[in-house]
Amino acid sequence: MLSLDEKYELAVLARSRSYSVYSKFAVGAVCILKSGEYVLGCNVENASYGLCNCAERTALFSLIANGYDPKDVVEMVIIADTTKPVSPCGACREVMKELLNEDVVVTLFNLNKDVKVLKVKDLLPYAFDEGDLNE
Ligand code: THU
Repeated sequence: MLSLDEKYELAVLARSRSYSVYSKFAVGAVCILKSGEYVLGCNVENASYGLCNCAERTALFSLIANGYDPKDVVEMVIIADTTKPVSPCGACREVMKELLNEDVVVTLFNLNKDVKVLKVKDLLPYAFDEGDLNE
């Protein structure tokens, strides 16, 4: 079990790897697995702006690509240089809702270590999901 300080430090490490040459807005994300292992993610931008990938999705896609099961994630930690703890974008909320268990804890930080803790199920009410494909 990681302490709040350890989660913050891991998220800062993830953020330090950000490739955000266009927005200069670096974001870090960490997926923590029930085994205690973790996978880091950062935002990766592109001169074709629409191709930018958020830190949260980088972490989740890396996790899958490296053979982990997203259902084994127990917590996600996200950080950016924001006034309040960072707010994950809508696209990432959809991806988190799709891949993670609804009770996964989401810990949001800013660089001042202000923190907000909620759950995946709190992030996106009335989400589009696989059930909508079958109606
Ligand atoms: N960004 C993230 O990585 N996560 C979010 O939840 C919000 C936005 C990135 C995308 C882009 O590289 C930069 O922040 C500015 O939007």
